[in-house]
Amino acid sequence: MHRLEYRGYDSAGVALLNGNLSVYKKKGKVADLENFLTDKNTHATVGMGHTRWATHGEPNDVNAHPHYSTSERIAIIHNGIIENYAALKTHLQKQGHVFHSDTDTEVFVNLIEDIQTNNHCSLEEAVRLALHEVIGAYAIVVLSKDAPDQLIAARKGSPLVIGIGEGEFFVASDATPIIEYTNEVVYVNDYELAVIKDGQLAIRSREDVVQTPYIQRLELELDSIEKGGYEHFMLKEIFEQPRSILDSMRGRLELGGSHLNMAGFRAYEQKFVNAQRIIIVACGTSWHAGLVAEYLIEDLARIPVEVEYASEFRYRNPVISERDIVIAISQSGETADTLAALELAKSKGATIFGICNVVGSSIARATDAGAYTHAGPEIGVASTKAFTAQVTVLTLLAMCIGQRRGTITDVKLRELVTELHNIPTKVEKALKLDAEIQQIAETFKDVPNFLYLGRGYNFPVALEGALKLKEISYIHAEGYPAAEMKHGPIALIDENMPVVVIATKDSSYEKVVSNIQEVKARKGRIIAVVTEGDTTIPAMAEFVIEVPPTSEVLVPLVSVIPLQLLSYHIAVLRGCNVDQPRNLAKSVTVE
Ligand code: AGP
Repeated sequence: MHRLEYRGYDSAGVALLNGNLSVYKKKGKVADLENFLTDKNTHATVGMGHTRWATHGEPNDVNAHPHYSTSERIAIIHNGIIENYAALKTHLQKQGHVFHSDTDTEVFVNLIEDIQTNNHCSLEEAVRLALHEVIGAYAIVVLSKDAPDQLIAARKGSPLVIGIGEGEFFVASDATPIIEYTNEVVYVNDYELAVIKDGQLAIRSREDVVQTPYIQRLELELDSIEKGGYEHFMLKEIFEQPRSILDSMRGRLELGGSHLNMAGFRAYEQKFVNAQRIIIVACGTSWHAGLVAEYLIEDLARIPVEVEYASEFRYRNPVISERDIVIAISQSGETADTLAALELAKSKGATIFGICNVVGSSIARATDAGAYTHAGPEIGVASTKAFTAQVTVLTLLAMCIGQRRGTITDVKLRELVTELHNIPTKVEKALKLDAEIQQIAETFKDVPNFLYLGRGYNFPVALEGALKLKEISYIHAEGYPAAEMKHGPIALIDENMPVVVIATKDSSYEKVVSNIQEVKARKGRIIAVVTEGDTTIPAMAEFVIEVPPTSEVLVPLVSVIPLQLLSYHIAVLRGCNVDQPRNLAKSVTVE
């Protein structure tokens, strides 16, 4: 449960079968549950636990999972949302079921009980029938006092993976809690039920057709999901970036050459060459990586690109044709909106290319082709190394498309390949700024607002810097294209407003210098991220952070590093829980 806590951490609970079916749950972290359990009998041979990210009902002891049915003979844990829960609840109340929580999950377990009582059927049959009545998304695990040798799990829309150990099974939302016991796993598909009984795993469809489980071997090391001496996962992941960027390009390009090797691209090369448009769908930080890709692909491959919030795209009847390519970007590969957006585009005939970090994730499996980012597990809720890995892979993709379309010269391509190889070292150098950035964080840790400005390739970086700060330190921060500032946000600037300007030496440098002047004229406090050796901006800024020079198209990979460190240090100094910021969860598997 500790390993899964990053997916939701407002309350936690367990259900244990030990002759009785006992449920213990508490608001707060897994550690609070552990304290609560110290004087309880937790001996059991079958059990399940849940860490929650609230949808229906505030985080408290009662709304925490597991939930009992009215008779307390069945218990359930559930991720997702049951959309028709209100109608089902009214019906079940009329049948005499009693509800204690505000959750949709309690409706689910009472529905199973109701079906079992009325049909005099097995638990498995009752679960299967219940799945036909619920509308929405779910990954559930069900235990019953009357079937003590059995555990039933099912999924639609929310991830579910089963670890196959020696004489034992593990069911979880992802593989992180499983790998210390086994690396053999089965990913449960939508509309499938998994029944673990008498030491056997059986998978059946909702229509009761037997499915053959596909057992995969995971190459996930335990070290990669531990803090490894760092105070926080976020800091570890920031410092892992020289390595994770290298891993994301490993085997895909060779030093000095112009041969690019992206298997996922190769299979759909012709589609990319003929694409009339590329649409990128993503959320949050992945959406920011998508914005960088808009610059990259238009620049290097000359195909028009649109970058869409997946949540908006899926509901606005978008115009999509078979000549469109939709790129879905997602670290977790489980973001519900991104998954739904790509399903929509697929139904309209577009080719779907996925950029995911988590191997075997739902988005990775739903795409026609794709490229994994290979950044390794990202546990900190604030995305850091996933962003730089996504940008690296998107850069390679833009280079592949440009090469095939003849929109990038061989000389330029070789130059970029060489510079990409230098990026891990440059990131390493940028990470050496840590102590300096900590000092800057000290100065600004108590301010209520921040503004981030950038142009061109650094505009998405400004957005990403602002998102990082607000999500982990709870300081209001806005990212803006630097020139757009004078159309509104400039009104916010006074002597108390810190303005982070990403002003590396690139084609918009002179323009950004003018924007800095505009901020300075209004007494804003300038923190500038500049290229090493810059002599102009240091004379204008209160704080200067120097990053190594690189090619303009690769600059986000370097310029984002100080912004990640700044948000980290400010959050730590404010006493915030940087790995598990309030109200958030690592994978947003509900829409
Ligand atoms: C970023 O720091 C976030 N916590 C969040 O915006 C995240 O990037 C977003 O939820 C998308 O997640 P995904 O990449 O797993 O799809």
